[in-house]
Amino acid sequence: MSEHLRQRSIRSFVLRAGRMGSGQARALAELGPRFLLPYQPGLLDLHAAFGREAPRIVEIGFGMGHATATIADSHRETDYLGIEVHEPGVGALLKRIEELGLDNLRIVQHDAVEVFNHMIADASLDGIHIFFPDPWHKKRHHKRRLIQPAFVALLARKLKHGGYLHLATDWEDYAQQMLEVLSADQQLANTADTYAPRPEYRPLTKFEQRGLRLGHGVWDLLFRRR
Ligand SMILES: C[S@@+](CC[C@H](N)C(=O)[O-])C[C@H]1O[C@@H](n2cnc3c(N)ncnc32)[C@H](O)[C@@H]1O
Repeated sequence: MSEHLRQRSIRSFVLRAGRMGSGQARALAELGPRFLLPYQPGLLDLHAAFGREAPRIVEIGFGMGHATATIADSHRETDYLGIEVHEPGVGALLKRIEELGLDNLRIVQHDAVEVFNHMIADASLDGIHIFFPDPWHKKRHHKRRLIQPAFVALLARKLKHGGYLHLATDWEDYAQQMLEVLSADQQLANTADTYAPRPEYRPLTKFEQRGLRLGHGVWDLLFRRR
């Protein structure tokens, strides 16, 4: 197999056959057509997708979408595109979209690496959020980590000048890798000396509150495109 093909087969996720709750399944069927944008190997028209011009933030790997929905709810003036491969999470976020009456959130259910490679125009985003990406803690799995030089360079290119990249992790060794990779990227500048204070828009997750009580760390990184 060529190096190119071999590399493409390394994914940052393993699709789990998670159970769909009945509410999630219903949300997927009823709201999917309105809020899910199909993956396509061509540029996405964000203006058409949201029906307006507004600041645009993309979130990679939103999980069950708790932070995503909270942030979109309290920033209705901004449009959010969430990318996630795990279907029950997509169903859960669609359910929240309905409960909160959100109109500023859309979802792509697909590998974010491919979405960024094909669907997002250069210099088109105001911000990118990646909260608690899978740490792949075994050394032999580190190659699956999302935060690698080539992907970070791609993310940076998709940001407008002055746009931000915000990462958070509770895994110290991954935090260090993030800091190294982001600091080495010539397109990006750190907004802090090293790690950044948690921006107020990122809600504390339940699991994070518990971790902090137990003395575990959480590290935020906030860089801007030059
Ligand atoms: C550890 S979870 C964190 C979820 C959420 N951000 C949170 O803070 O609770 C990481 C999530 O990223 C998703 N993920 C990993 N790689 C991805 C990729 N390449 N594209 C889309 N989603 C991805 C996984 O499916 C998983 O739901």
